[in-house]
Amino acid sequence: MRIVITGTPGTGKTEVAKHLSSLLSFELISIKDFVLESHLGKEKDGEIEVGIPLLKRRLSEFIGPRKDFVLEGHLACEFTVPYDHIFVLRTHPETLRKRLLPRNYSEKKLNSNLMTEMLDYCYLTSILHYKDVGELDTSTSTAIETAQRIVKNIRDGAQLDSVNWSAELKDFVLNRTI
Ligand SMILES: Nc1ncnc2c1ncn2[C@@H]1O[C@H](COP(=O)(O)OP(=O)(O)OP(=O)(O)O)[C@@H](O)[C@H]1O
Ligand SMILES: [Mg+2]
Repeated sequence: MRIVITGTPGTGKTEVAKHLSSLLSFELISIKDFVLESHLGKEKDGEIEVGIPLLKRRLSEFIGPRKDFVLEGHLACEFTVPYDHIFVLRTHPETLRKRLLPRNYSEKKLNSNLMTEMLDYCYLTSILHYKDVGELDTSTSTAIETAQRIVKNIRDGAQLDSVNWSAELKDFVLNRTI
């Protein structure tokens, strides 16, 4: 089974994907590691710089006939990776801000990541490239709990979340409350 985990930076993809791959005994593929190990791009200010068409081509070649894996990375929403299930991790902007603070991003970069999350960018972009996109709010659960929810969803169709940060977005823009 081919599982894709995407979402805004800091939503917990790497942590959740690690738990998920170990729960299912599937190979773990990190797009960030793949780009760096394949010398397709560089890390700059904690972000991967790589051309999407090149990444798409090389990643598809790498995946090839692989059947069981968990692939994680925010760039996975930008194109279609061979998949059976896709999940977008979501995080309340206040929680996301706390998670991103240790990264020492500039205020501009921090706010741009929060806006990306509040505008549903990864979710909507995933819908452009994949079918049956699931959302999970990681704000109030642990990474292992999120991984367990994904397993339950795949096995029994357990319900996922429907995230909407529009009230937070309005607050953010009007009052800078987050
Ligand atoms: N419920 C949760 N699920 C996942 N991570 C969580 C959760 N709660 C707290 N965290 C913490 O959030 C931080 C960000 O997680 P992680 O590095 O996995 O994000 P990411 O989505 O992979 O980010 P990036 O796109 O920058 O690689 C970590 O310190 C992680 O331990
Ligand atoms: Mg990560």
